[in-house]
Amino acid sequence: MAILEIKTYPDPILREQAKPIEHITEEIKRLSTDMIETMRLARGAGLAANQIGIPIRLIVIELKGKKGDKAMAIINPEIVLTESEEIAEEGCLSVPGFYEFIKRAKKVYVKGIDIEGKLFETECEGYLARAFQHEIDHLNGKLFIDYLSPVKRNIFKKKYLKKIR
Ligand code: NI
Repeated sequence: MAILEIKTYPDPILREQAKPIEHITEEIKRLSTDMIETMRLARGAGLAANQIGIPIRLIVIELKGKKGDKAMAIINPEIVLTESEEIAEEGCLSVPGFYEFIKRAKKVYVKGIDIEGKLFETECEGYLARAFQHEIDHLNGKLFIDYLSPVKRNIFKKKYLKKIR
């Protein structure tokens, strides 16, 4: 296993449309294991392949189970249905140190393929639904800061860019 470097805003890779995965190779399996390790070390709720510099449709998500945390890799994930809305605070490993309240669907129905190639389907809400929406956005080159109002986005840019310079 290996810890991967997480790309941060404004790295252009974060704006790329990730490509669908056609075959689950050993390399993809290894990558998903490394992404889970990287996500956990960074204490994230999820991680998309774009964030480690590889624009393919692969995400990892931390599922908070009753018997402790269980992370999972999902290939070609898609949100099939959404229901109602909710505002909650959100952050991103690629935008370190910045948190903001974002409106998203409260409930989602997600479809994809697991790392063994089997169909993956889940209906979830709250924290997990938010994580899926956030990570799938990454695969489409979208970041949570894109949801900010123009005024808030300007404030963010000034603060954030000053910090990383
Ligand atoms: Ni993120």
